[in-house]
Amino acid sequence: SRLPALLCTMPKAELHLHIEGSLEPELIFRLAERNGVTLPYASVEALRAAYAFTDLQSFLDIYYAGASVLLQEADFFDMAWAYLEKAAAENIVHAELFFDPQTHTDRGVPIDVVIRGLARAVERARTELGVSAALILCFLRHLSEAAAFGTLEAALPWREHFIGVGLDSSELGHPPSKFERVFARCRELGLHVVAHAGEEGPPAYIHEALDLLHSERIDHGVRCLEDPALVQRLAASRMPLTVCPLSNIKLCVFDSLAGHNLPALLDAGLCAMVNSDDPAYFGGYLNQNLVETFAALPQLGARQAWQLASNSFEASFADAAEKARWQ
Ligand code: ADE
Ligand code: ZN
Repeated sequence: SRLPALLCTMPKAELHLHIEGSLEPELIFRLAERNGVTLPYASVEALRAAYAFTDLQSFLDIYYAGASVLLQEADFFDMAWAYLEKAAAENIVHAELFFDPQTHTDRGVPIDVVIRGLARAVERARTELGVSAALILCFLRHLSEAAAFGTLEAALPWREHFIGVGLDSSELGHPPSKFERVFARCRELGLHVVAHAGEEGPPAYIHEALDLLHSERIDHGVRCLEDPALVQRLAASRMPLTVCPLSNIKLCVFDSLAGHNLPALLDAGLCAMVNSDDPAYFGGYLNQNLVETFAALPQLGARQAWQLASNSFEASFADAAEKARWQ
C-alpha cells in the first residue's frame, strides 16, 4: 500500500504537542550532565524502561521529573530545536507548541529564560526550516487559579512570543470551571484559548470548556462520543478535536489502536486531526501516529488522510493567507 508514504509526505499541521514531552531520554541525560543535575535513573535505557504508564497521572509524574534538567535558556532552545527539525522532516509545515511555564518557574527558573529559549527556536524554524511555529502557554490545572493568574502576569512582558493559552495536567477533579476567570482575562488580552477536555474527564468537562472558557479547540475530546447532543454541537460548530492516538493507548484511554474511536469521530463529521501529544514518552512522532493508526484501522484510507490534514490546517491559528496557501 502507498498509504504510509501518503501519510508521511502530505503537508500537515501539528496542534497538540507539549514541547516538554518531546524531550528524548538521550537529551535528558545530555542536559543533566551539562547542568550537573543528578537523575534518579542510571542510564538512558533505565529511564526509558520507566515509561510504562497506567493512566495520565502516572505519566505526568515522570514527565515533570524529566523536565527537571531544563535550567538555562540554551536548554529550552535545544529541546524546541530538536522537535522542530523532526517536524520539518515529517512535512509538518505549521506547529503550535504547548509549554508549561509553571513546571519551570516552580523550580526557580525565571519565565523569561523559558520563553526566550523557546521563542528563539520558533523564530529560527521559520527562517531555516520553513516551518511556521508558534507557542501556546499552558496553565497546570492541578495548581490554583491564583497561580495561573500569577503565571499570566509574569508572562505578559513576553506577550508577543505566544499566541494563546491552554489548560493541561491532571484532568480529573480539576474541571475547566476552576479557570473561568483566568481564561476570561486571557480572551480580553486577545489570546487564543484552548483546553484539554474529555481525555480522562467526562463529556461535562467538554461542555464547560466550551461554555465557560470559550475554548476554540478541544484537546483530545475523545470522550465526546458518550454524549450524542455534544457530538451534534461539536460537529455543527466545526469545533476542532486535537486527537492523539498513541498517547491514548499509552495512557490506557483505549485498550488498543484497533479500538480507537478516530473513525467514529470522522464519521460523525467532527473536525478531528491526529497529533503526537508527548512523542518522546508515547513511542512516536506525528507520522508514526498516523501510520500506526491507519495500519490498525482498515476503515481509514486516503480520503481520511486528506481529511485529517485539511482539518489540521482549518483548526490552526495561522493567519488566513497562510491557511489558503496550505489548503
Ligand atoms: N501534559 C502533557 N501531556 C498531557 C496530556 N496528554 N494531558 C494532560 N496534560 C498533559
Ligand atoms: Zn496534551
